Amino acid sequence: MAESYTVPHKVSLPEGIRVGTVMRIRGVIPKTGRFHVNLLCSEEQGADAALHFNPRLDTSEVVFNSLERGTWGPEERGPGIPFQHGQPFEVLLIATDDGFKTVVGDSHFHLFRHRVPLARVRAMEVGGDVQLQSVRIF
Ligand code: GAL
Repeated sequence: MAESYTVPHKVSLPEGIRVGTVMRIRGVIPKTGRFHVNLLCSEEQGADAALHFNPRLDTSEVVFNSLERGTWGPEERGPGIPFQHGQPFEVLLIATDDGFKTVVGDSHFHLFRHRVPLARVRAMEVGGDVQLQSVRIF
């Protein structure tokens, strides 16, 4: 198998992201656990998250949320769980005017409408139960 990045894997985005930015995450789910991709507003501990994308294989759901001043907002869920233990996956997080459009494999999965201004995003972190194979930002 291809080498994996160590997790948590942090990517600094000193210039932020903009409408049209595509974040592509590829990996393999090693076990029936949970992983997350967070789009954070700073690199500090306890930073606000404009997006918390959280596939949970243990409960067969994909939770989306934001974190502001240490408090989670209302959870959103995508339709079902397009991830399987032992299988490779590709996720695209696409910044649009309205929100973060998520695409898993070839299918649109969920639009998480902006709660935190896109302009505040400064870092991305991928962590949890995942063999992370590549992270690219286009
Ligand atoms: C909590 C969980 C956090 C985060 C949050 C999202 O229950 O402990 O890790 O996923 O839900 O709403």
